[in-house]
Amino acid sequence: MPNKFDDEPDERSIALKGLNAVISRDLTLDQVEQDQPLPPLAREILYGTCRHYYSLEAALKARMPKPLRRKDQDVWALLMMGAYQLLYTRVPPHAAVNTSVELVQQLRKPWARALVNGVLRGLARDQEVAANDAEQNPAGSVAGEAHHNHPQWLAIALRHQYPETADALMQANNQRAPMALRVNTLRSTRAKIMQQLNEAGHPVSAGQLAETLMLDEPTAVLELPGHSAGHFSVQDAGAQLANACWDKSKPSTAHLLDACAAPGGKLHHALEYLQPKRFLALEWQPARLAALQLEAERLGHNQRTGDYRLGDATNLAWWDGVKFDRILLDAPCSGTGTLRRHPDIKLHPVDLEAQASKQLALLTNLWQTLQDGGELLYCTCSLLRDENDSILAQFIQQQPDAVISRFELPTGAATEYGWQLTPLDPATDGFYYARLQRGPKTVEVEQK
Ligand SMILES: C[S@@+](CC[C@H](N)C(=O)[O-])C[C@H]1O[C@@H](n2cnc3c(N)ncnc32)[C@H](O)[C@@H]1O
Repeated sequence: MPNKFDDEPDERSIALKGLNAVISRDLTLDQVEQDQPLPPLAREILYGTCRHYYSLEAALKARMPKPLRRKDQDVWALLMMGAYQLLYTRVPPHAAVNTSVELVQQLRKPWARALVNGVLRGLARDQEVAANDAEQNPAGSVAGEAHHNHPQWLAIALRHQYPETADALMQANNQRAPMALRVNTLRSTRAKIMQQLNEAGHPVSAGQLAETLMLDEPTAVLELPGHSAGHFSVQDAGAQLANACWDKSKPSTAHLLDACAAPGGKLHHALEYLQPKRFLALEWQPARLAALQLEAERLGHNQRTGDYRLGDATNLAWWDGVKFDRILLDAPCSGTGTLRRHPDIKLHPVDLEAQASKQLALLTNLWQTLQDGGELLYCTCSLLRDENDSILAQFIQQQPDAVISRFELPTGAATEYGWQLTPLDPATDGFYYARLQRGPKTVEVEQK
């Protein structure tokens, strides 16, 4: 039977260009994909190489006569993707080696031909041993970052914060993410969408919320019937749980602010669920705001009473002075809860201190726009305390009228101030949620 990986040199050349941009120019996989749509094999190679970067690096370095120069990162990218195909896919070894050697031509570095050929052939010969070293034997010849495929700083942070589950968590971070849908309850029902998708050959099962569906197999969204009609959105099941954090005892929402709104998953879910009388979606990147508005049109939410505004949530230049009774702050963060979907995050340095000070600045600034008795949902897709409980701890210390309001979710675990989801539940990415109420500190807020 022909192997789907045979004879697709163009896809490999797209993968090489993309991987080189991720490694040498610090581009994210999302940015690579914006520049160049990724055909399936290119996507598999790019994501897979990033996911297993550290074990591949260790396997290659053990076979390299000396490190490559900085200006030869393109050759390094080529070796990495060759090694990925050898160690983690069913690409026949001869195809992985030969297509890599052929790609040297594109780099215009003829000297690299012998190197790529020699290193990958050696790896192909030892591939079983190499795979064992890299993935299964932490005490073996490949140690440290390699066996858990996380950078050292992150492995240390996770071991510190999750002493009992860090290894399982890192393993979970290295899996492929599932695909979840959120039914647009203003346009359809879960039962109808389930039936449509099952009939179209895309089996789905019910997720934790009444509007959540889990696809058995991740699928290109445009192939799913009902998508263009706005009957559902693709949204991680953990992200959907944001809506379960609001205080249900508050009967209605008069004025909702989503302060960091794009691409709009949580905003649109909140519009479907809370049905606020008015809303404001704020975003500081014009292209992201435009994409958010297109998504609103697809879902039919552009008809609702609300504004989509370009603005920086660390200041109040965008604000008309009318206070909000509910604020969603889905703060920019390290993204360490989403490594399954964004494995490239592991390759790039993260300035946690800068992130944390921005998160606190956002919270402090937005607090001024929340009315008395109103609630603010603070959210990140981070697994790290520095961006989560630690921000809340600092904030309630400095803000006399900020009160932590507790809640429970069906998965994950309570933290000191909020709730942490992790991919230890394979249905969800890692999200942190904490709810604050504006009111005198003496008020005892009941657990919901
Ligand atoms: C984590 S994403 C939000 C995801 C979104 N809530 C959703 O569920 O689809 C954070 C967003 O905040 C935006 N952002 C970052 N800093 C901002 C600022 N100072 N003011 C407004 N938006 C900001 C980013 O461009 C990004 O689109």
